[in-house]
Amino acid sequence: MRKSMLIPMQAERRDQPIAVFDSGLGGISVLRALVRYMPAERFYYFGDSANAPYGSKPFSQIRHLTIQHAKRFFEEGAKALVVACNTATSVAIDELRQLYPDRIIIGIEPAIKPAIENFPKGKIVVMATPTTLRERKFEELVTNYANRCEIIKCPCPALVELVERGELCGETAEKAVLEYVGSCLEPLPDAIVLGCTHFPFLKNAIRCVVGSTPKIFDGAEGTALQTQRRLSEAGLLREGIGEVRIENSLKDPAILNLSAKLLQITI
Ligand code: DGL
Repeated sequence: MRKSMLIPMQAERRDQPIAVFDSGLGGISVLRALVRYMPAERFYYFGDSANAPYGSKPFSQIRHLTIQHAKRFFEEGAKALVVACNTATSVAIDELRQLYPDRIIIGIEPAIKPAIENFPKGKIVVMATPTTLRERKFEELVTNYANRCEIIKCPCPALVELVERGELCGETAEKAVLEYVGSCLEPLPDAIVLGCTHFPFLKNAIRCVVGSTPKIFDGAEGTALQTQRRLSEAGLLREGIGEVRIENSLKDPAILNLSAKLLQITI
């Protein structure tokens, strides 16, 4: 029997969605930037809240989950994948690119470079998951960019769960932030890098704890710009009216309501 194959034309490929993935709700901070830069795109956001947090899971499990999700996104026709999770990027991005060499795959990383460019001799605190701070990718970032500044690693695992519960401000959130960051504030840092995509949603609580002096950086905008550049180079930027579809592995309608709220609140 003769086999046939459907090859999507360039115009149809442009209309395919961009898959955006995180361990849970944090990647919505990246999705916001993506929508701002590319409002005509069709975004498919998948939050794996049923398995969150990734940051305290073994390497092999984070790797397995990330690869499994990416496989499904591409099988379903995604024209690009944005790994909106610093932890999944640090564990699996190299392997994903090996598995799908012809695909556009962008992975968020802690915004160490812009922080160092602003404060080349400064004190920079990086808040992230234990995995992100432990992995080789992080060491590479520090070796590549930091020569004269002081980089302080600040693992903050429990902050992820606060965001998953929608507890973004108030006493509980500030207390949790203080518990992690408190020991890094003497002397005050010049910059704080939010190296986990959940943390921008805690910016108000973080500000309350660290005061107005440290400049706060996150990687959402850089990731959105890089995605836009890659799609443009491939001739895959879409025109028209965009859309955002959100799905979550947790089968609870409350998580989708919280996702929609996070997409819209001011941070
Ligand atoms: N939002 C993810 C990140 O950027 C990880 C959160 C988690 O531990 O699941 O690293």
